[in-house]
Amino acid sequence: MRVIKYVFQPHGDDRGQLVALEEFKDIPFSIRRVYYMYDTVSNVTRGFHAHKSLQQILVCIHGSCKIRLDNGKEKKVIPLEKPYEGLYVPNAMWREMFEFSPDAVLMVLASDLYDESDYIRNYDEFLEHVKKCGKITALDGE
Ligand code: TYD
Repeated sequence: MRVIKYVFQPHGDDRGQLVALEEFKDIPFSIRRVYYMYDTVSNVTRGFHAHKSLQQILVCIHGSCKIRLDNGKEKKVIPLEKPYEGLYVPNAMWREMFEFSPDAVLMVLASDLYDESDYIRNYDEFLEHVKKCGKITALDGE
């Protein structure tokens, strides 16, 4: 499966814009959790983990930030700067979030509830995991 950057349909009219996201229609999984980051301190990098099974879609609904994805073989930096764009992050993908603008709000739609046992927070363990499960997600989509 490819890493995919979704462009959601804004419903614009003379009052402004509205984006609606529905599971299995705009989002390829059941949305079991939503969380968001804001007031991120300048120059901070967050993330530094992968998930064993969790799938996510990252939407920078205000401001901008950058996401570094690493499939264990190659890395790619994807800027998120539009409230109608979503970056699909599959399981077995190391991610780091950085260069948050002071006004950035990064919203994450997740396929499951918070579960610390699904996290891989050690990079060497992540590389081992990728080797074991044989999952290298191509990074050629955007
Ligand atoms: P953390 O995993 O450190 O965030 P990041 O990966 O962006 O660096 O999460 C910060 C804190 O928030 C940590 O104490 C765990 C908690 N947390 C929850 O309680 N629920 C959640 O859904 C998430 C993502 C984090």
